[in-house]
Amino acid sequence: MSKSFDVIVIGGGPGGYIAAIRAAQLGFNVACIDEWKNDKGGPAPGGTCTNVGCIPSKALLQSSEHFEQAGHHFAEHGIGLKDLSIDVPKMLARKDTVIKQNNDGILYLFKKNKVSFFHGRGSFVKAAEGVYEVQVSGEKTETIAAKQVILATGSQARALPGVPFDEELILSNDGALRIGGVPKKLGLIGSGVIGLEMGSVWRRLGAEVTILEGLPTFLGAVDEQIAKEAHKAFTKQGLKIELGVKVGEVKTGKKGVSVAYTDAKGAEQRLEVDKLIISIGRVPNTTGLNAEAVGLQLDERGAIVVDDECRTNLPGVWAVGDVVRGPMLAHKAEEEGVAVAERIAGQHGHVNFNTIPWVIYTSPEIAWVGQTEQQLKAAGRAYKAGTFPFMANGRARALGDTTGMVKFLADATSDEILGVHIVGPFASELIAEAVVAMEFRASAEDIARICHAHPSLSEATKEAALAVDKRTLNF
Ligand code: FAD
Ligand code: NAI
Repeated sequence: MSKSFDVIVIGGGPGGYIAAIRAAQLGFNVACIDEWKNDKGGPAPGGTCTNVGCIPSKALLQSSEHFEQAGHHFAEHGIGLKDLSIDVPKMLARKDTVIKQNNDGILYLFKKNKVSFFHGRGSFVKAAEGVYEVQVSGEKTETIAAKQVILATGSQARALPGVPFDEELILSNDGALRIGGVPKKLGLIGSGVIGLEMGSVWRRLGAEVTILEGLPTFLGAVDEQIAKEAHKAFTKQGLKIELGVKVGEVKTGKKGVSVAYTDAKGAEQRLEVDKLIISIGRVPNTTGLNAEAVGLQLDERGAIVVDDECRTNLPGVWAVGDVVRGPMLAHKAEEEGVAVAERIAGQHGHVNFNTIPWVIYTSPEIAWVGQTEQQLKAAGRAYKAGTFPFMANGRARALGDTTGMVKFLADATSDEILGVHIVGPFASELIAEAVVAMEFRASAEDIARICHAHPSLSEATKEAALAVDKRTLNF
């Protein structure tokens, strides 16, 4: 006899573990199955985000930023340092400790909320009379059952065709986060979010970094003005970004990796590097689910097909996060997880896809919410724009980080905020105000009339809102 639950969640990443906790809070008897193993073979819930994504990348970005500051910026504060060095194994060990704290935190939260955790792979066995049987294959094999199943199996790095990851020379995000020493030359394919974050980490630590990007434009999804500013800053830092390339043969050998490519002018080129990170997007994880056993519908990319409310084609089966359509972001996965748990409870869970913030944790950071100027133009929407540079912000000057700006886009008639775009210090934190404003459908004037603490970077947000009406005070 299989053990029965009200809700089974397959996948313990941000989509799955949050869905499980919310469902338990709502009074359901919940099981969460996750197969991720730590280096001792034990459970490591938290998914890509905790183990090989958001958390470890931010840990390394922090360590490398300290190194960069110490090497290049401490002197201007009058702080002298001799013999600055980086101990990469120690930096990686710190990152692993941060990961473990998060894994343990999730296991604690499961206990606290009485979620039954199963360590192993979850796959469908069958469906009968609205009840789904799911087999857990871990140290032991057991079968559990529920009428409601939430699938949150996430995604994995997309490989270049014919170039499998070996995680020694050809690295996915996994290998990129555990390079044991600073490579002399590092190559990356794809100047998207991972390319820029990982490229920044290893450049700061001393690697010569070249990123090959297929598209002719840099960060095409980002507001053009912001992307241009960011590109300028990255180039100044020494990050080499080649746009409009066509990657050809990739060969590995004793000396490292050799990448043949055609550059934007059509000339044949070769990039020789010690290691190559492939960061060209991610593919949904559905292979282990045995979707065929129950007739779960997948699309041509292998993503689970869902409606706006995360319902699959099967009654009682839902899917959230990277394994479905939409941006592959941890907070998007979490919001969907909460909304699904609430819908199962008969509540009106809701995710506003128009106000999901994006952040790229480089230096300068890039963050945005809502529409870009190019999107508004393409839609023929009449808008007003206001920008304010950090160069004119007192706190930014005191911090010694005046790169970038805040940019507001507001409806030409109603003044409703349509998008906010930031490149500069702590953009990741500043964007929250813009998200709140857009959720409450605030006008640019609303922000312009709110008292912001002085001196703070958030004054640049207020000033950019004032700039929409051409009345900045400090610029
Ligand atoms: P995942 O986190 O992928 O979790 C899925 C889990 O399900 C995994 O533990 C997997 O092992 C498990 N699983 C899969 N199949 C089965 C099965 N059949 N049985 C049992 N378990 C199974 N997003 C941000 O918002 N901010 C960031 O700063 C950020 N940084 C990132 C940095 C990197 C390097 C990468 C790669 C990604 C980053 N992301 C970031 C994206 C973020 O990690 C994902 O959007 C997020 O993890 C998606 O959550 P999820 O729950 O859908 O899936
Ligand atoms: P991405 O989609 O951000 O960028 C991929 C880049 O590779 C694009 O610019 C694309 O044009 C380019 N590309 C694709 N195929 C190519 C080819 N054959 N040759 C050359 N260039 C090619 O994907 P990435 O960086 O792999 O990250 C995956 C996802 O993970 C992100 O989209 C994001 O959802 C998530 N993520 C989020 C982070 C954050 O929120 N800070 C950090 C890291 C990842």
